[in-house]
Amino acid sequence: MAAEQAILRIEGLRKSYGAVAALQGVDIEVRKGEVCGLIGPNGSGKSTLFDCCTGLQTSDAGRVLLKGMDITGWSMNRIAREGRLLRSFQKTVVFQSMNCEDNLVLAGQMFTFPSLLSTFWQGPAARRRLKRLKERAAELIHIAGLERVKHLPAGNLSGGQQKLLQFASMLMPEPELVMLDEPLAGINPILIEKVIQSIEAANRQFGITFVVIEHNTDVLMNLSHRVVVLHQGMKLADDTPEAIVRNPQVVEAYLGG
Ligand SMILES: Nc1ncnc2c1ncn2[C@@H]1O[C@H](COP(=O)(O)OP(=O)(O)O)[C@@H](O)[C@H]1O
Ligand SMILES: [Mg+2]
Repeated sequence: MAAEQAILRIEGLRKSYGAVAALQGVDIEVRKGEVCGLIGPNGSGKSTLFDCCTGLQTSDAGRVLLKGMDITGWSMNRIAREGRLLRSFQKTVVFQSMNCEDNLVLAGQMFTFPSLLSTFWQGPAARRRLKRLKERAAELIHIAGLERVKHLPAGNLSGGQQKLLQFASMLMPEPELVMLDEPLAGINPILIEKVIQSIEAANRQFGITFVVIEHNTDVLMNLSHRVVVLHQGMKLADDTPEAIVRNPQVVEAYLGG
């Protein structure tokens, strides 16, 4: 993917919790179409940065621009719907008795029309939309590698397959930017590979931009086109993975000697 235009621009972002300065004036640019890795020691402000970009927390100072729109102070809902910015498995539920395709279609419907009683569930427009959702569901089943189990009730899938289904559900509403906070935490090596492949495929095939927080540095360096390092609420480095692993400051603060 061409990764030049900024889809997200974070300017001078500050956030304190009482005496804790979680973010102390952070500037980051995320380019459209890239996978941007975000690393840093525990407590360096990574999750707070996501919180402030997705509307979960209000920043104390600074601005967040999404596709050039100033979304500072917008609600989570508005950022998700108007901004097409979603965060890890935000609002995804897997219905155990429904199969993969139906779960995905429902995830798409619920995002657009959260009320189950919506009148938009019927009529020709609804049928066209349903057809589109089914097409997208089929593509995502392929991306997540769930073809062999797509007709099974989700409750019969392994824990790993359910995670992949959740990931696919998150992509049903056609987000443009997705922020994943430690998507690999607590999952086994085989599944790590599958989640990585799904992220890569979604990035390549749909052009979805990802920002990924991950402690597994080997995996993150392979996945990311660019890596930003936070340290004590400040940006320590912003470079290619190759340069990051050789950056002495990063090695000292985070990667270990
Ligand atoms: N909701 C919150 N309330 C109070 N303190 C918080 C909250 N969220 C984060 N913090 C504090 O802000 C700092 C940064 O945390 P966080 O953004 O979670 O770091 P990271 O994700 O890099 O581990 C930490 O000192 C943490 O304890
Ligand atoms: Mg965190």
